[in-house]
Amino acid sequence: MDNDILKIKGGKPIQGTVSVHGAKNAVSKIMVAALLTEEPCVLHNVSWVVDTDLMMNLIPSLGGTAEKIGGRDVRITAKTLHGMDNQKFQEVVGKSRVPILLCGPLLARHGQALIPALGGCVIGDRPVDFHIAALKKLGAKVEERSDGIYFSAKKLHGAPIRLEYPSVGATEQVLLSATTADGITELSNAAIEPEILDLVEVLNKMGADITLNDRIYTIKGVKSLRGFDHTPIPDRLEVASWACLSAATNGKIFVENANPEHLRAFLEKFEEVGGEFRILDNGISFWRAGSKLKTTNIETDVYPEFATDWQQPFTVLLTLARGESHIHETVYENRFGHANSLNKMGASINLIKECRGTLCRFNNEHFHTAIINGGGKLHGEDIEVPDLRGGFSYVIAAAAADGISTIRNIKLLKRGYEDFVPKLQTLGVDMIS
Ligand code: EPU
Repeated sequence: MDNDILKIKGGKPIQGTVSVHGAKNAVSKIMVAALLTEEPCVLHNVSWVVDTDLMMNLIPSLGGTAEKIGGRDVRITAKTLHGMDNQKFQEVVGKSRVPILLCGPLLARHGQALIPALGGCVIGDRPVDFHIAALKKLGAKVEERSDGIYFSAKKLHGAPIRLEYPSVGATEQVLLSATTADGITELSNAAIEPEILDLVEVLNKMGADITLNDRIYTIKGVKSLRGFDHTPIPDRLEVASWACLSAATNGKIFVENANPEHLRAFLEKFEEVGGEFRILDNGISFWRAGSKLKTTNIETDVYPEFATDWQQPFTVLLTLARGESHIHETVYENRFGHANSLNKMGASINLIKECRGTLCRFNNEHFHTAIINGGGKLHGEDIEVPDLRGGFSYVIAAAAADGISTIRNIKLLKRGYEDFVPKLQTLGVDMIS
């Protein structure tokens, strides 16, 4: 079987148990935090996805060590941290968005950072202007060069910073950079996603002085940081994907380690659309309540609202619910890359520029609202994964559809779903070689 193609025969309820581990969007950032200290740092329950593999390769290229000390345990030691002008660093750095966050440790310990073009899913322009503006406020000099963005600073200093939008990455950038700056940084209009709070917990374990009050972080700079031992939060984005697979196929999936605290907005909508769940001590069980799914309307937004990374799997549920639903995507201007292929499979998704619900910052521009006329049957098709979450929505659609679907470019799914093919096998998804 071609490693990059998955053939799924759909039409049967998907049942069983899957486990989720350390959140991809927390683990990789915590690995960056480990570079702020010379002391060893230990992380448990790591998910082996592209971003964590990338950090395992990138840390040695910067002079540190990153070793697996057990199945899911990692020890990172950055006794020394040198520059990034070496071949190995250049090879791995452009495969993800995480390396922009290396500015904090590199500036603190090296006085400079050169960050080449970033990778990550194509779901909008994804500029880094908020990162640059914030680092300038902290005293960094920034130069856009042909080989990347060059940051330099003898020493960063605390400053009041207000983000234009509660960006996850820009919030993390400030947390990682201001922690060892001189003086106090007050970061307002910041993001408060659970993965960021996990990073804050790690930084505080390391000796940082960070408090949060109503989207305002107060970061009192400290002279140095120590090592940590930490178990990151489970991946709430992956949990929602498995939940949608259960409801779309009228099956039942127990997601071991799922934490309901991080999933409130999702669980509310899941119930509204006709899903059911039971919270147990060690996870959450998901299934469909009645024979039919129901319509609903969704607006994605920053935490604690409905996450942008939940909307693609959820789109499939809405294509199966009879009647009209809409999804207003307010985080990324171009995050409906999955709509065309779902339409090819029999869905009716119409993308419009108009905001629905609230007028968002996209201001009736960009095709960022999906009008879904659901209730028809899905059928197998030959489709190509556009991005990570869109890709999982295809797996769900293929499992719910009549006939066989050929899903191409499945390597993109490895960015966020560890061992997803074995997991699908465990759940009894019919995969054809
Ligand atoms: N933005 C700017 N300028 C900036 C930074 C962001 O305009 O300097 C815009 C973005 O273009 C986007 C919005 O602000 O329209 C939000 O972006 P944010 O910075 O919050 O996203 P991110 O840090 O790049 C992380 C996750 C994404 C997740 C978003 C939103 C990682 C590695 N990625 O991205 O995860 O969708 O936050 O919660 O943490 C995924 O897991 O599939 C994924 C894409």
